[in-house]
Amino acid sequence: MCILGIETSCDETAAAVVKNGIKILSNVVASSTDLHAKTGGIIPEVAAREQVKWIVPVIEKSIASLKSKDIKAIAVTHGPGLIGSLLVGVETAKTLAYVWKKPIVPINHLQAHLYANWLEGKTPQFPAIGLVVSGGHTDLVLMKSHGQFKWLGGTRDDAAGECFDKTARVLGLGYPGGPAISRLAQKGNPNTYDLPRPMINQKNYDFSFSGLKTAVINLMRKAKKVEKKDLAAGIQQSIVDVLVAKTARAAKKHRVKSVLLAGGVVANQRLREQMKEKLPTLDNQLFIPATKLCTDNATYVASYAHFNFKPISWQKIEADPSLRIVEVIE
Ligand code: KG4
Ligand code: ZN
Repeated sequence: MCILGIETSCDETAAAVVKNGIKILSNVVASSTDLHAKTGGIIPEVAAREQVKWIVPVIEKSIASLKSKDIKAIAVTHGPGLIGSLLVGVETAKTLAYVWKKPIVPINHLQAHLYANWLEGKTPQFPAIGLVVSGGHTDLVLMKSHGQFKWLGGTRDDAAGECFDKTARVLGLGYPGGPAISRLAQKGNPNTYDLPRPMINQKNYDFSFSGLKTAVINLMRKAKKVEKKDLAAGIQQSIVDVLVAKTARAAKKHRVKSVLLAGGVVANQRLREQMKEKLPTLDNQLFIPATKLCTDNATYVASYAHFNFKPISWQKIEADPSLRIVEVIE
């Protein structure tokens, strides 16, 4: 079964067609990141206008080699995200569902991110621990089977990606901060500055990254001269240490068969290396999507819909900017 996925939660306009939840037939992404780099961050209104501009050409390109009868259903991200951006994808998907007379499946962006791990020829086994680290979210979940999530913990303040973005701004590195910090960090020494690893020793699955941001701001204020590459390496290492420690603890406690990483921050090379080094010690298999499947795209939206096929009437789908991980197991 081929599903057309549509993703417009933030500053990427994306459409993809995926067969049987695992085979990518097309993956088209138009990003307005360069535009936001000029303003040092996303202006929601600007992101929404770009979504309007790109949604039709992106969908057209994604289905160019298919006939509409090949597409069995439409899956669309309905939250969380920026309301103006979400509405563009949701309203377009509803229109297509009506005109093409296809079922439509509303998709939770956070849960869907994890399905990037089904798209590269391997099949994760349950139970699994999932870490979703993006620009707005940091969540650890236990998955007992498809769509069966238990939320174990998440950030109490800034998300991991947000911490990369905000500290990069303090360092004058521009937007998006994650790639900028990781580029500079390659040449730096992560031990030059003593930065906190917030909540690393607390036996829960919560995170807090705003203290790290404050520590960086204070350090910049007090120090006469700051070696930016060392500070970038230190920030990155601090975030990576906390993410690895909490994920490893959750995997050990729940004796899972798989650990699934997902979200834009998983594009970070240091995080990928350190997870590979420290995680599979516990009899579980570690899944890390290809870098281009970590950042926002629609392949995992379509994959999620295949494995969790719950179509609803197009009239009932609404954008929900503050949607969270929906728990369905005790
Ligand atoms: O999942 P995503 O593409 O969009 C959201 O759903 O938020 O994640 C975007 C986040 C941004 O905060 C960005 O700085 C971060 O992912 N990111 C990275 C890297 N590439 C993107 N963070 C660290 N290292 C990277 N290489
Ligand atoms: Zn995302």
